[in-house]
Amino acid sequence: MSRVAVVTGGTRGIGAAIAVALKEAGYRVAASYAGNDEKANAFKAETGIAVYKWDVGDYQACVDGIAQVEADLGPVEVLVNNAGITRDAMFHKMLPEQWSAVINTNLTGLFNMTHPVWVGMRDRGFGRIINISSINGQKGQMGQVNYSAAKAGDLGMTKALAQEGAAKGITVNAICPGYIGTEMVRAVPEKVLNERIIPQIPVGRLGEPEEIARCVVFLASDDAGFITGSTISANGGQYLI
Ligand code: CAA
Repeated sequence: MSRVAVVTGGTRGIGAAIAVALKEAGYRVAASYAGNDEKANAFKAETGIAVYKWDVGDYQACVDGIAQVEADLGPVEVLVNNAGITRDAMFHKMLPEQWSAVINTNLTGLFNMTHPVWVGMRDRGFGRIINISSINGQKGQMGQVNYSAAKAGDLGMTKALAQEGAAKGITVNAICPGYIGTEMVRAVPEKVLNERIIPQIPVGRLGEPEEIARCVVFLASDDAGFITGSTISANGGQYLI
């Protein structure tokens, strides 16, 4: 029987590419989303991938959502924590709500989603947790104090949890995408994107969502069983760590 994979924020952007790539690799995939019903329904109609609506920032919603996925598809063996938001502002203009919203979704969301699948993975002796962090969690980014803090936190969580999962057959890894051609990046002011960001990318272009999805498929596979606590940087050479 094929494995079950959950991709949060899996109906748009990088998450949609991940969900499709996992389906093509033979997984039974559930894609969660928080708000955009129209996009989610279109994604479901186009791909045949099951979609579920809940907020990764709400612990009980995650517990209930995972229970529903497991009732429909079976035990979750692969979890891709991809859901993320931006509330960019220079620090002197940043509101407490902008800080809290980003920390809650992009960092606490990883706790909320991973906790409900963790015990089952331990009991079955197999699991794959793949956290989508960001180049901006590695290097920091002006205008993104909130986002950079959350994404750096994701990397700390990855390394700590990897040590807990290792003896139980669970790997926990992170991917740090650079600037990928999604709605999130296209929302950056055009002048900033063209004059400040793209010139910093040695390959000279934005990344493609599928380039991140292929990293996920590898980390989810049995072939990646010796890789845990690690970070794959997929950023076109923009930041070398
Ligand atoms: N890199 C380099 N310089 C940047 C920059 C960036 N990413 N973002 C802003 N700046 C510069 C601007 O060019 C500007 O410089 P000048 O005055 O010399 O032209 C200065 O910072 C102030 O910027 P604004 O005039 O735009 O100030 P603002 O207060 O109107 O807006 C902002 C600030 C909301 C942060 C806006 O500049 C912005 O959205 N910047 C993009 C921030 C960013 O990189 N976000 C990443 C989003 S994609 C993502 O998060 C996915 C991922 O994981 C990579």
